[in-house]
Amino acid sequence: MIAVIGLGFVGLTTGLGLAHRIGCTLFAYDCDPKKRELYRAGRIPFHEPELQEHLGRYLGNRFVVCDTLEEALRSAEYIFYCVGTPALADGGADLNALLGGLKASREVLSDGRFRVLVIKSTVPPGTTSRVIAPLLEQLGLRPGEHVGLAANPEFLREGSAWRDVMEPDRIVIGEAEPDGGRRLAELYALGFDAPVRRVSATTAEFVKYMSNSLLATMISFANEMAMIAEQTGDIEIPQAFRLLHEDKRWHGTPAKMTDYVYPGCGFGGYCLPKDIASMIHHASVIGEHAGLLQAAVDVNQKAQMRMAERIAAAAGDQKSRKIGILGLSFKPGSDDVRGAVSFEIIRLLLGMGYLNIAAYDPLSMNAFDLAYGLPISYAQTMEELASGSEVIALITSWEEFIEKRHLLSGKLVIDGRYTEAQSGVIVHAGE
Ligand SMILES: NC(=O)c1ccc[n+]([C@@H]2O[C@H](COP(=O)([O-])OP(=O)(O)OC[C@H]3O[C@@H](n4cnc5c(N)ncnc54)[C@H](O)[C@@H]3O)[C@@H](O)[C@H]2O)c1
Repeated sequence: MIAVIGLGFVGLTTGLGLAHRIGCTLFAYDCDPKKRELYRAGRIPFHEPELQEHLGRYLGNRFVVCDTLEEALRSAEYIFYCVGTPALADGGADLNALLGGLKASREVLSDGRFRVLVIKSTVPPGTTSRVIAPLLEQLGLRPGEHVGLAANPEFLREGSAWRDVMEPDRIVIGEAEPDGGRRLAELYALGFDAPVRRVSATTAEFVKYMSNSLLATMISFANEMAMIAEQTGDIEIPQAFRLLHEDKRWHGTPAKMTDYVYPGCGFGGYCLPKDIASMIHHASVIGEHAGLLQAAVDVNQKAQMRMAERIAAAAGDQKSRKIGILGLSFKPGSDDVRGAVSFEIIRLLLGMGYLNIAAYDPLSMNAFDLAYGLPISYAQTMEELASGSEVIALITSWEEFIEKRHLLSGKLVIDGRYTEAQSGVIVHAGE
């Protein structure tokens, strides 16, 4: 049996969805008596396709609206907390409803039965492990021993909430302790065939924020572009966006937008840096401030500096340590070194006083030497570079580097392209 606490968009849809798919009895509670009355009458206080029909179908049998929190919790094995987490004046998330709901659950939760507490509300990264787990401990409910505890963020979209809950892309289970995560995965397996991804609670919370941050960035990007276009004049804005969408990077097969949504040590290449600089300049000439693009450039510089700092931190104060650079071209599969971030990173390292730098790239060593003439040496093979270096920085994600990763074992490796966990090669690209 399952309890759902908080019956807004997320709680109602989750509750009805679980009842529908798993066939369990759902005990639902909201602290707002008006909402409880409405639901009992089979009515929904907001518009959301398909929910009305499913509420009518399950109300009073699989979906029981409870008058008290205690009644909802008593026989539940899983408790989904779906209360609101609105913004405070300083931008932080207001966790009062959630923490208050957990505190109010204490008495029932102390009856000696093991229940899994599932945090479905959107909360800042770290909340479940660093705020909720200690709170439960204080209440005498040790996670993993007296209760299970998992973060399970929701990715539904209002307007298609039912469909999104019925057919999730993946179910993200963030484990504050392993037992709760395992049991929650077992529950979902009873009725959902979406992939279940078990990660740390903080990872799960972070993914939810990251997902919304990406959406917000893309929307602001489109709006900034439209404002520049408007101010430029003579630009057919809808057509311009339709043409942008037709690009196979974003649409169709093979659409590889995900290649661009992966961390690295910054973008480079011939076109992206210069074209974005030119767009920022153009915007300023016509009286528009391209704040988002400027922020993209600032973050890019910061990413390159951060990579140089990570290498320096690994090398330590001894400036004569041998640093090996894997990858010079701006992206794998190319010998183009124009605007390559490898140049900027090596330049920064030389500036910090590290003078014992060697590099290896399958295609672009000559081009790099000709273009930049930096005081570094070049290895003829990856083996040679690996054996001659103490600290190795992976700058371009060539397939060779991933295939021959074993050569790097026992070395201090700074993987600037996060290739460790990659199954396929991410071509982190300039364009
Ligand atoms: N709306 C969305 O599209 C969406 C999508 C994904 C995640 N989320 C997240 O899910 C959470 C819930 O969102 P929502 O849109 O359903 O919010 P909502 O405000 O519509 O509903 C929250 C409900 O919780 C009830 N509540 C508050 N404190 C309570 C308590 N202590 N005990 C019982 N009930 C309590 C409120 O009365 C309200 O009905 C938020 O953290 C939100 O960020 C929302």
